Amino acid sequence: MARKKTKNPETTRTPIFARGPFIGSVAKQAMPENEMLPRSAYELIHDELMLDGHSRFNLATFVSTWMEPEAKQLIMETLDKNMIDKDEYPQTAEIERRCVDMLANLWHAPCFKEHATGCSTIGSSEGCMLGGMAMKWKWRVRAKAKGLSTTKPNMVMGSNVQVCWEKFCLYWDVEPRYVPCEKNRFILDPEAAAQLCDENTIGVVAIMGSTFDGRYEPVEKLSRCLDRLQKTKGWNIPIHVDGASGGLVAPFLQPHLKWDFKLSRVKSINVSGHKYGFVYPGVGWVVWREEEDLPKDLIFNVDYLGGQMATFALSFSRPGAQICAQYYNFLRLGQEGYRKILQSLRNTALYLSKEISKMGPFKLVSDGSDIPVFAWTLTKKMNFSLYDLSDKLREHGWLVPAYRMPANREDLIVQRIVIRNGFSFDMAELLLNDIRSALKYFASQPGLKQKQTGSHFKH
Ligand SMILES: Cc1ncc(COP(=O)(O)O)c(C=O)c1O
Repeated sequence: MARKKTKNPETTRTPIFARGPFIGSVAKQAMPENEMLPRSAYELIHDELMLDGHSRFNLATFVSTWMEPEAKQLIMETLDKNMIDKDEYPQTAEIERRCVDMLANLWHAPCFKEHATGCSTIGSSEGCMLGGMAMKWKWRVRAKAKGLSTTKPNMVMGSNVQVCWEKFCLYWDVEPRYVPCEKNRFILDPEAAAQLCDENTIGVVAIMGSTFDGRYEPVEKLSRCLDRLQKTKGWNIPIHVDGASGGLVAPFLQPHLKWDFKLSRVKSINVSGHKYGFVYPGVGWVVWREEEDLPKDLIFNVDYLGGQMATFALSFSRPGAQICAQYYNFLRLGQEGYRKILQSLRNTALYLSKEISKMGPFKLVSDGSDIPVFAWTLTKKMNFSLYDLSDKLREHGWLVPAYRMPANREDLIVQRIVIRNGFSFDMAELLLNDIRSALKYFASQPGLKQKQTGSHFKH
């Protein structure tokens, strides 16, 4: 609806809430006929956005909600740069390449000549799509070379995968083969995954930091199962590691765990820079083990400093600011800084999960010792559901999602907390107090009607 015309003209002298836009209704669908003062437009939108939840209290999101002032300054300075204009912004392009090289080194990629093979993305979803595409292309070449049909590719993964993998299979015409959850196993079972593979399997996805409960999937064991399959059946099936969260946690908290390019079967890894890379939303990364793992015919060349630069991405224009912010974090924090932050986040997660498990009605599904994310469920039927608890905590500003586990364990409702940079020990204490007072409230309401479905929380 267009904004009503008002006789009250806008002037900078008019007190702001007495100006035209504030005493009539505001355009919602059609662009307004007339202009308004910049301050009026700002105030209108700013005030409406106050109705959103507070991002720092959003314990559902994995995405960074706090950055240092210097990083914010850098973001403001680079907001106008389109990262795809590599010829015009060669240093932004150079910084992107440095970030890719740093990640490849962190993930133990074999020595590369000049630069590692990889690129920035808008987030992990795009990274996953690119990793999946490369696997599909490579499989097609393998199948053609053997004279096999190339019409029925499939991909194997746990039913706990993030929705981006379902999208990948749908958009790229790949049959998804899911290993279901079983009893209290909510992550991939490597033996079951190997059993689902055949000569048309383009790859297996392993997640470092399941979205549902934060647990790592056993990549090394999966690799061994696929080695065995290669020996017995001759199928050489690659692994893509979806390290959306764990890709920047495991190198610092679990340095001895084998999950990355140390395993030769791992051909590509994605990570969200905006999760435990500690950058505001809008950046992810995907890196291939070696140049040969990214099929050449997927690469486009763009002019770069009079030369050519390879690009491989789904979108074209994208902000350069987030790439600069990622480089800022890599330089500013170094490995020591990442380790310190992650150790403190893990300590907070472990403390919170332990205290929650001691409250009585809750049982942990995970405790936050892999990535600093944990989930719990109810020990027995209570007079409240976890959806009720979620609603009750919302009254205090906390956003703590409750949801059903994936296929085969949809009967189980859990609640999850993601501990991120900026969530202090002190905030953890405040949250615990609010959970305790919610329990007291439920105890005082014996006739409470339980909620059986929750907000539309999606993974
Ligand atoms: C395991 C996993 N993969 C992929 C994604 C998608 O990441 P993004 O939001 O960066 O696209 C997520 C998001 O939570 C995730 O947890």
